[in-house]
Amino acid sequence: MPLTPRPQSQSLTQMTEYVLPQHANALGGVFGGQIMAWIDLCAAISAQRHCGNMAVTAFVDDLRFEQPVRIGQVVRLEAKVTAAFHTSMEIEVIVEGEDATTGRRWPCVDARVTFVAIDANRKPTAVPPLVLDTDEVRASQAAGEARRGARLLQKRGNPGGPQQPGKTS
Ligand SMILES: CC(C)(COP(=O)(O)OP(=O)(O)OC[C@H]1O[C@@H](n2cnc3c(N)ncnc32)[C@H](O)[C@@H]1OP(=O)(O)O)[C@@H](O)C(=O)NCCC(=O)NCCS
Repeated sequence: MPLTPRPQSQSLTQMTEYVLPQHANALGGVFGGQIMAWIDLCAAISAQRHCGNMAVTAFVDDLRFEQPVRIGQVVRLEAKVTAAFHTSMEIEVIVEGEDATTGRRWPCVDARVTFVAIDANRKPTAVPPLVLDTDEVRASQAAGEARRGARLLQKRGNPGGPQQPGKTS
């Protein structure tokens, strides 16, 4: 039976992290890996809010770190499901830096992560479609489908990952 569509607003997830010395590199900026961990967490909550199941990270699109966030500043993350497929979902996570004393904000990363819903037997399970009730959500779903096609082409072209047995780089 088809699952009842869910509105994009259901998956909206916001996180706010204060940057402490343990998050930072020798230059006083947040480690890229720390930001990636927060992206993964924020996207996981968003995916689970949409699908109503546990969900695992299947793929992370290329990340570009635009501007650093430093010790004493704030990292803001906002995630939502931008497209729902059969058992997988694309989640966009927008990451910004913030100076809490002035309210100034700046772009840090715009990430897209694919999550797969997992049932009690740890097998992929169907996700509800998005409610396609606005031009914006319809465009988001269509753009997500195009990006998914490119990801799966890449997977088919490179099924074993970058280092396949017997191949040298
Ligand atoms: C993600 C995982 C469940 C997919 O399993 P699988 O056997 O490849 O399953 P399927 O081929 O049936 O694919 C399931 C879904 O994942 C999608 N998928 C798989 N690989 C993908 C990739 N590289 N990019 C985008 N989507 C991908 C498929 O398109 C499918 O989505 P759909 O049903 O919406 O079409 C499996 O690879 C896995 O468990 N990986 C480890 C996950 C993990 O440990 N993450 C980190 C901790 S959470």
